[in-house]
Amino acid sequence: MGNDLIQIASAQPCHAVAPGVSAASADVARGRTFYLETFGCQMNVHDSEKVAGVLMARGYRPVDSHQDADIILYNTCSIREKAAQKVFSRLGAFRQGRPGAGKIVGVLGCVAQQEGEVFFERAPQVSLVCGSASYPRLPDLLDQLESGNRRVKGLELDTEGCFETELTRRDNRYRAYLTIIEGCDQRCAFCVVPMTRGPERSRSSAKILEECRRLVDEGYTEIQLLGQIVNAWRDPSPAGWSFADLLARVAEVPGVRRVRFTTSHPRYFTPEIVQAIDSHPTLCDQIHLPVQAGSTTVLERMRRGYSREEYLEKIHCIRKAQRAISLSTDIIVGFCGESEKDFEQTLSLLADVEYDQIFSFKFSPRPDTAALGFFDSVSDEEKGRRLTVVQELQRQIQLRRNQALVGRNLEVLVEGYQPRLGQAVGRTTHNRVLNFPGVPAEVGCYVQVRVTSAGPNSLVGERVTRAQGGAASA
Ligand code: SAH
Ligand code: F3S
Repeated sequence: MGNDLIQIASAQPCHAVAPGVSAASADVARGRTFYLETFGCQMNVHDSEKVAGVLMARGYRPVDSHQDADIILYNTCSIREKAAQKVFSRLGAFRQGRPGAGKIVGVLGCVAQQEGEVFFERAPQVSLVCGSASYPRLPDLLDQLESGNRRVKGLELDTEGCFETELTRRDNRYRAYLTIIEGCDQRCAFCVVPMTRGPERSRSSAKILEECRRLVDEGYTEIQLLGQIVNAWRDPSPAGWSFADLLARVAEVPGVRRVRFTTSHPRYFTPEIVQAIDSHPTLCDQIHLPVQAGSTTVLERMRRGYSREEYLEKIHCIRKAQRAISLSTDIIVGFCGESEKDFEQTLSLLADVEYDQIFSFKFSPRPDTAALGFFDSVSDEEKGRRLTVVQELQRQIQLRRNQALVGRNLEVLVEGYQPRLGQAVGRTTHNRVLNFPGVPAEVGCYVQVRVTSAGPNSLVGERVTRAQGGAASA
């Protein structure tokens, strides 16, 4: 998925002392501030919401700039070389002798896990190195930092279960991320995630439903179930539900209006998932199903576990659903040994499937992956060319598909309002962005909008009904 930079600093302050957090440690932290910057996928964004919750429950207050912070944290992404480099350029600001020197700086997430203790040598200004599988130990690690320890680490990967905390400070008031499965056992040849996030572990159905109900009570109407392979989820409790069973039960929680889930892996994608969507209107008409490449030879080398034909069968099954499901995917161009012919098969797959959105990347060799032992045969220049060709083809497809919606009435959840333009921005069930003249009070409401024009990346429209409150009615 897209790797936008997201900053979490605007969550509301909370002075409550969390259960299990001693009054003494909260006292130490009272009046202290933190700055937390997040790189990477939704999983990282949601992890940061959990980390922020733990800090705020200890009495720390979020601030918008690292200059004002006592603790500076970077939640990092190492999926591609460029993403991993970002944290090192941020850390440059805290080198010895610079104005920021002396502050507590911590590195969380995938780069932390990947580099491990070496980080302290590479960047001596760093005091905390912690991978996502060790977040349950954060209170203990913060105790160590607060008592003056300047080399604190959480790098174990064998953590059982998922990191869940009631303290999570969600950054969006209407759409809530909810982790249902952590880690990945798939080991695609190009991917660092199994090394940085550890083995796969599912949360129990009872815990997931309990959190859903709590989220609805707090006013959330859209739930996004998260996992590296979300559809590999299997109920670890005796109830023994499948992922499709879980979708149906989450969709039936009173008050839930929209449910999304990401990321699905084609290997685990079953017709039962489509049946669940068919019979539950609250399950959004949207599926993200990364294909990576159109050539079976390349897919085999990538160790994806499916052929082009098997993937297309899954697409066919989705296309037969009762409602029109919007499809998106991830594409890697220039993987080791990808010939021009292989690449053309990616283009023909894009033309056949006609996705509504794609996330496309140049292959980037990563440490500790199988592909590091393969010959990175495609030059960077050629990878760049292939990326441009893919993106131009997709731009035309998206423009055509979006323009076909002009004149249609679509329901959006209003996510924001831009006062300068008088424009509200919402999202359709298909996950399309729709801008329309609105009012600030509509944020968080579901509104019917008629589409009046369309570009490749978004729609423009006008409201056809008055706003309804965010509470469920459908
Ligand atoms: N299941 C995860 C996949 C994480 S990686 C998810 O939530 O999407 C996201 C995407 O990054 C992958 O689907 C793949 O297209 C891309 N990617 C992963 N490793 C890569 C690499 N080494 N080079 C280029 N792109 C990569
Ligand atoms: Fe990565 Fe493949 Fe897992 S892309 S997250 S190893 S499914």
